[in-house]
Amino acid sequence: MYETKAKEIVKTLTLEEKASLTSGAEMFATSCLEEKGIASVFMSDGPHGLRKQEGKQDFMGKNESVTATCFPAACCVASSFDVEVAEKLGRGLAKNCQAESVDVLLGPGINIKRSPLCGRNFEYFSEDPYLAGSMGSAYVKALQAEGIGASLKHYVANNQETRRRTSNSKVSERAMREIYLSAFEKVVKEAKPWTVMASYNKVEGTYLTENRKYLVDILRKEWGFDGMVVSDWAAVHDRIAAVKGGCALTMPGDSLHDHVIVDAVKSGALEERLLDEACEQIVALSLKAQANRKKTSYDMEEGHRLAVELAKESLVLLKNEGDLLPLDADKKVLVVGAFAEKARYQGAGSSHVNAYKVPTLQEVVGNCPNVSFVEGFGMEDSYDEKKAQEAVNAAKKADVVVVMAGLPPIMESEGFDRYTMKLPRCQNRLITELASVQKNITVVLENGGVVEMPWADEVLAIVEAYLAGEGVNEAIWSVLTGQTNPSGHLAESFPLCYEDSSAYLTWPGEGNEVTYGEDIFVGYRNYSSRKQRVRFPFGHGLSYTTFSYRDLFVERNRYVAGQTLEARVTVENTGKRAGKALVQLYVGCKKGATAINRPVRELRRFEKVSLQPGESKTVIFTLDQRCFSYWDEGAHAFRVPGGDYTIEICQDAATVLLQQEITVEDEYIASGQKYDLMTPIVDVQKHPLGKEFMEEVQPMIDAVIARMDMGKASAQMPYAEEMPKELGLLSEPLQTIKRMLPMLPEERWENLFQEMNEE
Ligand code: BGC
Repeated sequence: MYETKAKEIVKTLTLEEKASLTSGAEMFATSCLEEKGIASVFMSDGPHGLRKQEGKQDFMGKNESVTATCFPAACCVASSFDVEVAEKLGRGLAKNCQAESVDVLLGPGINIKRSPLCGRNFEYFSEDPYLAGSMGSAYVKALQAEGIGASLKHYVANNQETRRRTSNSKVSERAMREIYLSAFEKVVKEAKPWTVMASYNKVEGTYLTENRKYLVDILRKEWGFDGMVVSDWAAVHDRIAAVKGGCALTMPGDSLHDHVIVDAVKSGALEERLLDEACEQIVALSLKAQANRKKTSYDMEEGHRLAVELAKESLVLLKNEGDLLPLDADKKVLVVGAFAEKARYQGAGSSHVNAYKVPTLQEVVGNCPNVSFVEGFGMEDSYDEKKAQEAVNAAKKADVVVVMAGLPPIMESEGFDRYTMKLPRCQNRLITELASVQKNITVVLENGGVVEMPWADEVLAIVEAYLAGEGVNEAIWSVLTGQTNPSGHLAESFPLCYEDSSAYLTWPGEGNEVTYGEDIFVGYRNYSSRKQRVRFPFGHGLSYTTFSYRDLFVERNRYVAGQTLEARVTVENTGKRAGKALVQLYVGCKKGATAINRPVRELRRFEKVSLQPGESKTVIFTLDQRCFSYWDEGAHAFRVPGGDYTIEICQDAATVLLQQEITVEDEYIASGQKYDLMTPIVDVQKHPLGKEFMEEVQPMIDAVIARMDMGKASAQMPYAEEMPKELGLLSEPLQTIKRMLPMLPEERWENLFQEMNEE
């Protein structure tokens, strides 16, 4: 409805008026033409809290913004593996936006964490597109249900900060579709964001802000996006190319160059139709925003309570040997580390929020005689003998030591990538020293991205708090003391060291060229497939209770493209406390089980289940075609490759708890491939006529093989169950069969190729 009205309005505008609409009026506001009913739309960062600047405005996170609730950052929220948490976040943000008269919130950021070192990983959800898409979709739906538009960012293949404004991401078509576009596709199709933000970088040599293939062909025509495309701030270099490419709005303000658009239309360099299309998007957004404005007030205390609640749902208990946690109220607890006083709870850059209040850990603990604090180390990377010694001495006398560690703000931010996965040396050193005098050590980490933990085997417990927002300390204390039973799980893998990480060899590219050399094998898709040891796998997370899984039931053991497939499993709380289990379903595919190289398993469904002690629940998942598909570069489409698969219920991406095998039939999609005698048999079989032909000649082939006495030999092949599908004859060209079967008339071959090549 807004689109139709927008079209009518655009028809009434002059060329100059239309050009003026295509760039912002100022840093965060769009241009207006009040007399035509086009009001300015106000946008604000950012993904985990409102960053509305009333005074001096900038997009680098420098100047102050209004006081707002600082919710946990995406890295933290994603660990909840709970779409309800994402929904609550979306709703909370929307309420804050409404009260501050903000129309569009610049988030969520759903880029894939390709490398642990991306400086902006804290703003993103996961290394897994299904999880990132699910969280993003729930967030956007909730935000927009309250009348605030989302700006889904940063579209696309913007996975690093190094040369973020000039680099060219070289991604295979398959990796682009399966990994990097996939989360965007899910959110666009399911949640219909009001706007999508075109990123700074180039893909296939073209800036995203000028990239019609991505902004129009894929986003609009394939996925049905009907909102507005906005540039990332200062990402447009050529106003005409942006309009032609499908980037409707250039941000921030650039009115000085609006005349370029006018001249281009007049000279014929830019079709007016394209300018009209851009304006229609902008006007429709303005109408939508105006219709959704409400005068409301915002309760900061309520916002804070929500921030605490979301953080509690997201903290991850990584290790808890000997049930060191929860802390025993009678024990003498020593808290070490500067992070207790100066919590790290959000990242730096355009998403930086002027938080309402951030109680320190001391304030949260209050007057508790059993808990004492020493600094031990500061926020810098300098080891202070005196402070360290004081901590070691105090640790000897304590029953338990809690180390509050993490990445200091200077080590991770928008605008630059991290250059090491290590924590500051002073922290690693002191943790080891403390461990030599005290065995009961818990390390709590506050960081936006993955870190190495060389001391992991020396401490009994580790809690990953990520950047947990303004309620960070309330949430941490609640988890440490057992008032909250932790239920977060890692939304990214923690490799042992940076060199192990999947993108290591090609990150962060050479000059402006960034080759995504690991292709689809990002994060756990790499580690699990290689059975490579990691510190903590994707999906890992402990609880103060225990869960057991049973009765995996998959409704059929054959799957054909187009069908749905139901899988159910029962989970039981076998411990003594109420808790939340995360049921993770992966589709597994052993190497060689299909003709396609696939990760050994991929997350396809998940659900968080709340259970009282002794209680059990059955979770039902419905799998669809996409759960089995890969991107076929020949057909330029998602296609289901036939083979033997497993439906797996996993504890994490490296540990299968229950599994059931299923056979998947090959889906044929015409790809324009030409068939002849040199086509490998395995490819011929993908074509229905080829399959028919092979079935027809198979008895003759068997007879020939039997005469060669090979049938027996292959039956005795050691490790036969591990034999790849394509071994031997199947990978031979058809010519081999022709030689084996001289009795087949020439005409049969001619007909076969003619019919197969007809499409
Ligand atoms: C960031 C965006 C942000 C924009 C506006 C850019 O530098 O990449 O994420 O929304 O600034 O502040």
